[in-house]
Amino acid sequence: MPAIVMDKQGSGPEFEAKFTFYVFICCIMAAFGGLMFGYDIGISGGVTSMDDFLIKFFPKVYAKKQEAKENNYCKYDNQFLQLFTSSLYLAALVFTFLASYACKKYGRRPTMRAASLFFLVGVVLNAAAMDLTMLIIGRIFLGIGVGFANNVVPLFLSEIAPPKIRGALNILFQLLITVGILVANLVNYRTSSIHPWGWRISLGGAGVPAILLCIGSLFIAETPTSLIQRGHLDEGRATLKKIRGTSNVEAEFNEICRACKAANLVKQPFKKLANRNNRPPLVIAIAMQVFQQFTGINAIMFYAPVLFQTIGFGNDASLLSAVITGLVNVLCTIVSVLYVDKVGRKVLLLESVVQMLISQGAIGTILMIHLKNANTLEHNVAIAVVILVCSFVSCFAWSWGPLGWLIPSETFPLETRAAGFSFAVSSNMLCTFIIAQAFLSMLCHMRAGIFYFFSGWIVIMGLFVALLLPETKGIPIDEVDKIWREHWYWKRFMDDEGAISKVQREQE
Ligand code: BGC
Repeated sequence: MPAIVMDKQGSGPEFEAKFTFYVFICCIMAAFGGLMFGYDIGISGGVTSMDDFLIKFFPKVYAKKQEAKENNYCKYDNQFLQLFTSSLYLAALVFTFLASYACKKYGRRPTMRAASLFFLVGVVLNAAAMDLTMLIIGRIFLGIGVGFANNVVPLFLSEIAPPKIRGALNILFQLLITVGILVANLVNYRTSSIHPWGWRISLGGAGVPAILLCIGSLFIAETPTSLIQRGHLDEGRATLKKIRGTSNVEAEFNEICRACKAANLVKQPFKKLANRNNRPPLVIAIAMQVFQQFTGINAIMFYAPVLFQTIGFGNDASLLSAVITGLVNVLCTIVSVLYVDKVGRKVLLLESVVQMLISQGAIGTILMIHLKNANTLEHNVAIAVVILVCSFVSCFAWSWGPLGWLIPSETFPLETRAAGFSFAVSSNMLCTFIIAQAFLSMLCHMRAGIFYFFSGWIVIMGLFVALLLPETKGIPIDEVDKIWREHWYWKRFMDDEGAISKVQREQE
């Protein structure tokens, strides 16, 4: 998930920085932000497959599910049921922009606290929900929390981490999202047998990472960048000394001052983003998010238990299969941490395009042949589908999952990095909303063909990576405009304005 890489990686000034206990505590903080988001992604699918939950809030869906023998593909098709999952992302989409304003004006610490408080209100409303309205309003509050947290936590991390481990921390955040998804799947597996209110524990469990984030935000200090940006220079210098574990911080302090000055000069970063030479990173950032979502990953993450029930698994087997895919997701994200800087971004993305295409194509074909409206899959065939889903999730986890966030964080110039990144976050939320809202209806209407639909997208994204995505492995972040200037297509967008602003930055 998101993280903004602010430093040069691989070259440029080396600042003295130790991996202090304070920074360690901050990593834990990031963990709670990531867990909070991941838990939400993972929890809704399991909850919406629980009968007690359906009987209370979606009796029509429950009745339809009982008639499942009549239509496998349509038993969960209900706009309100989908709204339960998707409303969170709609709220997050809107509040992402407000969060970037709050971060700048009030600092990272209060924004983080606000994220956890909004989130907690949502958790209480959800766990205590008496009717659908309470449930959806709760989801909207959770979404506000997620919108805030997804902006502030990565920004906080990137500012607090020693420059050398910023890239790794970026993917670590994604790793913790996957841990959150896995924990949610495990919780659902346990609570599904607690009748009739097990789902309340599932939804209430989201409060744990939120409370920890809230408590944490009371104790940590504000980031030096935020302090300096808001004019508290002495406090900024003192904090820098504390987090770097050395008093030799003058070079980094000056660098932050320079960056803040340059960023403050750009009064309207969103307007600047519309400039022609910002077009390449903007297109890449938005495309990476759209493609990441249109791999179909969240059809699996949100609705895995529902999907596994569709192919004929019982309640428990479905939830267990979701746990298995969650575990594969965590383990394969570690592969990315280890290899992204060795083999590069494009190799991972292209390899996964091939693997995803084979997996989705095979799932679609198997279901098309074996799963009719009113039968269940034979045991062996169902196992084959689970294995193919795991294959799909594994390659997503070492490629589009983390890189969908990493690449937009390393391709914008400093002046538009934060604004550009908000666009990336909101594009992601928008596409997540679309998938969450539409998937079950698409499954009902397109049946197994839905997997060919996602395969079509995968072909397009493969071509996009091969032809239009520049490799950013090992490129110092402040020299990123070089990759556009040298690119066969994007170079036409790089007029002199970009070069001038770079020269200005160097002269300052
Ligand atoms: C995506 C989420 C997805 C998760 C799965 C993230 O990178 O943004 O939408 O659910 O990966 O691990």
